[in-house]
Amino acid sequence: MSKTPDNSGKSGTQQVRSDFIEFFRGKAHTIVPSAPLVPANDPTLLFTNSGMVQFKNVFLGSEKPGYVRAADVQRCLRAGGKHNDLDQVGYTARHHTFFEMLGNWSFGDYFKEDAIVWAWELLTGVWKIDPARLLVTVYHTDDEAYAIWRDKVGVPAERIIRIGDNKGAPYASDNFWQMADTGPCGPCTEIFYDHGPDIPGGPPGSPDEDGDRFIEIWNLVFMQFDRQPDGTLLPLPAPCVDTGMGLERVAAVLQGVHGNYDIDLFRNLIAAAGKLTGTADLDNKSLRVIADHIRACAFLIVDGVLPSNEGRGYVLRRIIRRALRHGWMLGQKGPFFHKMLVPLIDVMGEAYPELAGKRELIERALLAEEERFAETLDAGMRIFDEVATKAGGAASGGVIPGADAFRLYDTYGFPVDLTADIARERGLSVDMVGFEAAMEQQRETARAAGKFGNTATMPAELAAQLPATQFLGYDRLTEGGLEVLALLRDGTPVDRLDAGDEGVVILDRTPFYAESGGQVGDAGELDEAGTRFMVADTLKFAGQFHGHVGRLEAGSLKRGDRILGAVDEARRAATVLNHSATHLLHAALRSVLGEHVTQKGSLVAPDRLRFDFSHFQPVSAAELAEIELRVNAEIRRNHAAEVRHMGMQEALDFGALALFGEKYGDEVRVLRMGDASTELCGGTHVARTGDIGLFKIVSEGGVSAGVRRIEALTGQGALDHVAQEEARLDEAARLLGGQPAEVADKLRNLIERQKKLERELEAAKAKAAAGATSDLAGSASEVRGIRVVAERLEGFDAKALREAVDRLKQQLGDAVIVLAGTAGGKAALVAGVSGNAAGRVKAGELIGHVAGQINGKGGGRPDMAQGGGEDGPSLVAALAGVPGWVEQRLS
Ligand code: ALA
Repeated sequence: MSKTPDNSGKSGTQQVRSDFIEFFRGKAHTIVPSAPLVPANDPTLLFTNSGMVQFKNVFLGSEKPGYVRAADVQRCLRAGGKHNDLDQVGYTARHHTFFEMLGNWSFGDYFKEDAIVWAWELLTGVWKIDPARLLVTVYHTDDEAYAIWRDKVGVPAERIIRIGDNKGAPYASDNFWQMADTGPCGPCTEIFYDHGPDIPGGPPGSPDEDGDRFIEIWNLVFMQFDRQPDGTLLPLPAPCVDTGMGLERVAAVLQGVHGNYDIDLFRNLIAAAGKLTGTADLDNKSLRVIADHIRACAFLIVDGVLPSNEGRGYVLRRIIRRALRHGWMLGQKGPFFHKMLVPLIDVMGEAYPELAGKRELIERALLAEEERFAETLDAGMRIFDEVATKAGGAASGGVIPGADAFRLYDTYGFPVDLTADIARERGLSVDMVGFEAAMEQQRETARAAGKFGNTATMPAELAAQLPATQFLGYDRLTEGGLEVLALLRDGTPVDRLDAGDEGVVILDRTPFYAESGGQVGDAGELDEAGTRFMVADTLKFAGQFHGHVGRLEAGSLKRGDRILGAVDEARRAATVLNHSATHLLHAALRSVLGEHVTQKGSLVAPDRLRFDFSHFQPVSAAELAEIELRVNAEIRRNHAAEVRHMGMQEALDFGALALFGEKYGDEVRVLRMGDASTELCGGTHVARTGDIGLFKIVSEGGVSAGVRRIEALTGQGALDHVAQEEARLDEAARLLGGQPAEVADKLRNLIERQKKLERELEAAKAKAAAGATSDLAGSASEVRGIRVVAERLEGFDAKALREAVDRLKQQLGDAVIVLAGTAGGKAALVAGVSGNAAGRVKAGELIGHVAGQINGKGGGRPDMAQGGGEDGPSLVAALAGVPGWVEQRLS
C-alpha cells in the first residue's frame, strides 16, 4: 500500500508507476531497476538525464543484456550538462531538476509501429485519456511515423505536426533526440496533451508553444545513429526504440490537474515546505522550488554525490543554495531544508527505500551545507541589493557587472547561476563574460602563486625553451650521465652554482620523483668527480620539470655538465609503502563506510600517510578496526601491483577510481593491486602489497565540515609504533605490579579501591566535622539570650562550613553563627541565624560585617549567607568582634 495520502484515487503516482510497469510486462518486457543518477563510469555525462543512459552501450552494440525488450521507472536529473532545466524550475508548471521517467525499450526488436500503437493503447485504452485531447509531432522527414499515426492509430491529420530542424543546425530539432553531444540519437515522435483553452500556450511548432497548455507527455525515440565528436552520424548496429514519459506530467493529466506541482506527491511536499517556512500561501512559487530541489538533492546524496566546489558536487551545492535562498525569501533564515527529507520519504520512500536507508547521511549533508551558507547568505543578499541598485532597474535593462558577480561567488558563496536567478527576478541580467574573465584571472593568480610558494616557480621564457623532464624513477633509483639543462638561484636562471650555493637543478632525465598527487618529492644526491649537490626535495616546476632543490656541497656545477643522480633509497622505499597503503585504505573506506567516501586530499611521506575524505560523522572505533583489518588482509594477500597505460575511457571501463573534477591527460596510468584496488595514479608503488608489511591507523579526526582525516603508518614505522605502545603497556604493568595481560583487571581494582577510599575519607571528614561542631556548640557565648558562635576552622571548605552551620543551628536553637574555613591564605565564610534571633539579626549583614574587615565580600539571605576574604590576624580580630556586633543589633 502506498503511504502517500492519496486523494487522487486510482491515479496516485505510485499507481501510475505500477500501471506502466504492468502494461509493458504484459508486452513481454523485462523490468529493470532504476540506475543511479551518477552514470557508471561515463565521463561524457554529468548525470543520468533520461531512461536510456544505462542502455547506452547496448544501443552501441558493445553490451548484450540478455533481453531485447525492457521497461523501467528511471530517476533522472536535468541540471548542468546538455539537458539543464534548473533555471526553469519554479517558473513553469512542468519543469523539474529531478523527475521520474517511465520508459520502454527495444534493442533491435520491435520498431516504430509497435512503439506507437502500444503508447496509444496505454494512454487511451488503459488510462482512458480522451483521444481528442492528444496531438502528436513527428520529425519532418519521418513519413513512416506519420503514416502509422494517421493510418494505424487514426489520429486526424490536423493533429499530426511535422517539426523540422528548428534549433539552427542539421538534426538540431525538438524531434531529433540525443543523449549528449556524442552517442546514440535518432528522430522521435512526441505525444502532447491539451490542458484546455483556459491555459495560455500554443501547440508545438507555434510561436507560443512554450506555454503550459500543450504539454509533451511521452517521447518515442527511434534510435538509429551514433553521433561522433565531429558531428557525423554513424548507423547503430540495429535500430532501437527508446521512450520516455514524464511521470509527473502524466500523473497531472490522470489526476485532472493542470500542473505537475498540483499532483498528490507535490501537494504533500509543498504543504511540508509551507509549514517549515511558515508560508500559508501554498501557491508561492518558492515552495515549488523547495519541493523540487529536495528531490534532486536527496537523490544525488543517495547516489554518492556530496556538496563540493567542483563537478557533480558543485551542481548539488548550487541546487541546495538555490533552495535555501528561496527559503530565505520566505523569511526562513534558520536551517529547514534538511527537514524536508522526512516528508519526501513519506511520498517516495515506498518506491525508493534507499531514501530512508540513507536518511542520516542525507540530513547531515544538507544541514552542514545549510549551516555553511547561512554564514554568508544574509550578507551576500545585502551586497546583491547594493549591486542591483547600482546596475539600475529593469527599465534600464540593467546588467550586474562580472566583477560583482565574481565577488558574490568568491566571498559570499553565491553560485553565478544563483546570482543570475535573483537578477532575473528583478529584470536584471549578469555579465557572464565578465564573470568568466574574473574567474580565469583568479585561476591564473592561483597558478602563478604556485602550490609550493616561490620555490617552484621559474621564468616562463626558460620553461618555454626546455623539454619536459623525462622521469626514470618508476624502476630506477640511480642513473648516470644526466645532463644539466638549467640552474636556478633565488628563482633566477644562472650558468653555474658554486660550493655553498643553494639552488635548483633541472636535468634532461631523472630518477627523482617530484612532489605530486600527495606523494612527497625524493631526496638524495647528484654526484660527479668532486661535485656533490645534496637534494633536499624535488618539486615540479611549471607542471613538467623535476626541479632538484638543495645545496651544492662541493665542487661547481655548470649548465651542460653530466652528472649521476642517486635517490635516497630508504626514504623512497618507505614512501612507496605509504602510497600503496593509501590506495588500499581508500578502497577499505569505501567498502566499510560507503561509496560516498571520496578522496579530498592526501599526504604520502616516508614516515606516515595522511588521507582526507568526505564523510559526515566521526568514524567509530569499530569501523576503524574493520578498516584496518581489511587493509591488512589485502596486504597479506600479497597482490602484485600492476601498472598499465590506457585511454581514459578504457581505464574507467576497467573499473579505475578517478577523482571527479581532476583533469587527466588522454593517456592515464592505472595502478591495480589485484581485486583490492584500481586507481588512476602517477605515483610510485610497491611491487607487491605484502611489501607494506603492516598497516596501523594512529588517528582519526575532522578537518572541516564533512571532511575527515585518517593518519596511519606502515612497514617499519608501524612496527615501531606497535613497539612503543607495547613499551608503554609494559611500563604500566610494571607500575601496577603485574603482567601486561593483567593491566585492565589491576586498573579496575585500583579504581574501585580508590573510590572506596574516597567514600571512607568523606565519611571520616563528616564525622570529624560533626565532632568539631559539638566542640563549637560548647564554645558558644551568650548575648541577651542568644547563643553566638564565631570560629575559624582550618581546612573546612564551603560545603563543610554549611553543614556545620546547619548542625549548630539545630543544636543551639536561638543562635547567630559565623564560621570561617581557611586554606592557603584564603578564608571562606558561612553565617546562619536561627530561632529567636531570626528577624533581629541578618546573616547577610553579618557576613558583610566580617568580610569587610578581611578584604573580602559576601551576602545572602537573612537566615543563611556566605562570602570570603583573606585569612590572617584581621580574620581573628573580626571574629572576636562578632559578639559585640550582635549585642549592638539586639539592643
Ligand atoms: N530519451 C528520450 C527522452 O529523454 C526518450 O526524451
